[in-house]
Amino acid sequence: MAPILAIESSCDDTACAILAPDGTILAETVLSQAGHVPFGGVVPEIAARAHLAALPALVRHTLDVAALPAEALGAIAASTGPGLIGGLIVGAGMAKGLAVALGRPFVAVNHIEAHALTARLPGLVPGGASFPYLLLLVSGGHCQCIAVEGVGRYRKLGGTIDDAAGEAFDKVAKMLGLGWPGGPAVEALAREGDPAPWPLPRPLRGRPGCDFSFSGLKTAVAQKLAPFAAGALPRTAAAGIAASFQDAVADIVADRVAHALDMMPQATLLVAAGGVAANTALRTRLTTLATSRALPFAAPPLRLCTDNAVMVGWAAIETLRERRRLGLPPTDDLDLLPRPRWPLEQMAERFAHPAP
Ligand code: KG4
Ligand code: ZN
Repeated sequence: MAPILAIESSCDDTACAILAPDGTILAETVLSQAGHVPFGGVVPEIAARAHLAALPALVRHTLDVAALPAEALGAIAASTGPGLIGGLIVGAGMAKGLAVALGRPFVAVNHIEAHALTARLPGLVPGGASFPYLLLLVSGGHCQCIAVEGVGRYRKLGGTIDDAAGEAFDKVAKMLGLGWPGGPAVEALAREGDPAPWPLPRPLRGRPGCDFSFSGLKTAVAQKLAPFAAGALPRTAAAGIAASFQDAVADIVADRVAHALDMMPQATLLVAAGGVAANTALRTRLTTLATSRALPFAAPPLRLCTDNAVMVGWAAIETLRERRRLGLPPTDDLDLLPRPRWPLEQMAERFAHPAP
């Protein structure tokens, strides 16, 4: 197998990567879109236009970084769902175009599957991440516990019934007058705060299953802030509320993951991914939890935890290997359309043998 070029454009980052067949990263590039900042969140139309404007030059640049001509590529991959449809169409269109022009296979990658398999990228987890393991995916757009049982074999054990964890961080940051994205700002402010005077609820804690809910917590934060006039929130109060909110999220997530581990006694590893997995308070709680279950805990480095194209390339490599093992053709159908929704449970279908 020759190197593989991968494209990620499902949300607000335009990213490209080239991986050798063994997973060695030959080039990785990412352009974070700044156009959303004034709106305090991702605007799909702005995202799609920015992907379209950036992608051709980014692909060229990524090939230059890897010092490879396009003809050296063995396959082209792109996230084709789930995500914002405009960006997915741009990335998938570019990948298909290259695949046709070069006469190489096109691999459609499920973005969540790519997050789920990142831990298996050689060298990331000491001793390797072998199946089965539990993945906690916590970002601005996703919040779920996934049993990762094999390539194409995933079971969603639970997910958020309202906001994603990162979304809750971003909304609370906004209420506290901090910038976007809010997670890092809340974490920084929480460091100087005393949570004790600002008790907050832990929605769904202790309930069966491992679904998440953050909207009640967000409302409780709004209630704590209500007595303060606009612009008159003392810094000690803001920091205390930030610290209390962060503690509550860490408590909720640790409780839900503990339940997910109960639902998956065969798990050999706990993996966290997504932007919120960067949060130190959360990482500490998850490490303690994993240790109490005699399990290793791993979180890929931040640049591979958040949206990136390396994970897309690696998922494509795992997909191609599995297809080869099963005697299936390497390429996806070029008629395949990007999908805003693409449940992980459907991934097994792609490895079903075609009817004889
Ligand atoms: O994975 P990501 O980069 O993008 C997607 O949403 O797919 O995650 C971004 C989210 C944002 O909501 C951001 O506020 C949150 O991750 N985040 C954090 C931290 N760093 C980023 N949340 C809490 N603590 C952090 N240190
Ligand atoms: Zn993502």
